[in-house]
Amino acid sequence: MDEVMTMVSRQPGLDGRHYTDPDVLAHELDRIFAHTWQLVGHTSQVASPGQAFTAPVGDESVLVVNHDGAVRGLYNVCQHRGHRLVESDSANLSAITCPYHAWTYDLGGRLVTARGEDVGELCVPPVRLDTMAGFLFANLDPDAIPLQDAVPGAEAELLAMAPDAGQRVLSSRRTHLINANWKIAVENYNECYHCPNIHKSFTTKTVNPGSYRITPRGFAIRHAAQGASPKPSGAAGRVEAGSYGAIYTWPVSSIQCYPGRELNTFRWVPLAVDQTMLIREWWLDRTDPTPEQREVIERDWATTVAEDLSLMESVQQGAASRGYRPGPLIVDPSGVADVHTENAVAHLQRLLLDALGGP
Ligand code: FES
Ligand SMILES: [Fe+2]
Repeated sequence: MDEVMTMVSRQPGLDGRHYTDPDVLAHELDRIFAHTWQLVGHTSQVASPGQAFTAPVGDESVLVVNHDGAVRGLYNVCQHRGHRLVESDSANLSAITCPYHAWTYDLGGRLVTARGEDVGELCVPPVRLDTMAGFLFANLDPDAIPLQDAVPGAEAELLAMAPDAGQRVLSSRRTHLINANWKIAVENYNECYHCPNIHKSFTTKTVNPGSYRITPRGFAIRHAAQGASPKPSGAAGRVEAGSYGAIYTWPVSSIQCYPGRELNTFRWVPLAVDQTMLIREWWLDRTDPTPEQREVIERDWATTVAEDLSLMESVQQGAASRGYRPGPLIVDPSGVADVHTENAVAHLQRLLLDALGGP
């Protein structure tokens, strides 16, 4: 029998309305997504002047561009009548010309010409960017605390797992539309209570499930486990090289390192109260993965990711059921979860209620 001491939280899970009411999502977009750091990409995507990419941040599109050697974030919206400035995922730009009426901005967002009309000084509003081990995060709030203060220690831990994280390049990207609320997706991601039951491949080929620990603290949730094949073990809650580790940052970003130092990321984009876009990316030492790397990527997508999709969609339907009374969450009194507990789900729900102002 398990020797893990657990107790049942007295606080029930969130009621279903939080996952089904469009008004809740509207509040979340204002109070959470407009004020938090969200992963948008990697500095290697904008290494040279003119390189640019676009990324969703909540319900906004953000343009990230190298302007004369400085990486800048801009709202991806034309100041004339609001058309999206850059429609592709990535681009190489000498200027930003709006597709609608061809007003043209420089790469810093300053209007250069409105087809010869004098319309005065106009600028595309900036969006704050920050980096963590080479990864770029954006925050729509000009007064937000720096990323390093929001998730202290995270950068050093990522660099311990993958010292060359800053040099990694995009090697694979896949997206999937999940028919579930974004919170169902991140709650699912941040508990491994379901892993032994659902993720046979992950818990036999990638990690040793008995060693899996999930540590929620502030705006970060650390995942750590020994690799499936014997590797030096890390203490509970610590992320060490040679092991599996992940650092999720509230609300919708996670950077993972698999035991072979394969860095990969999750981004979740709320599209509707019951629709979330999953963006799954791999950041390796080459744009074209080796056959071995490709096998890891394919296996992950076909097993660990695919296995979660139907779970999340079923939970979304359950959240809308008249017969759903949220049960208690299983939490470990140590504060650290393993494959028998779901502390991070309770933590995420507290972060949510704090951000929304109660109850
Ligand atoms: S909306 Fe961009 S030029 Fe008119
Ligand atoms: Fe899962």
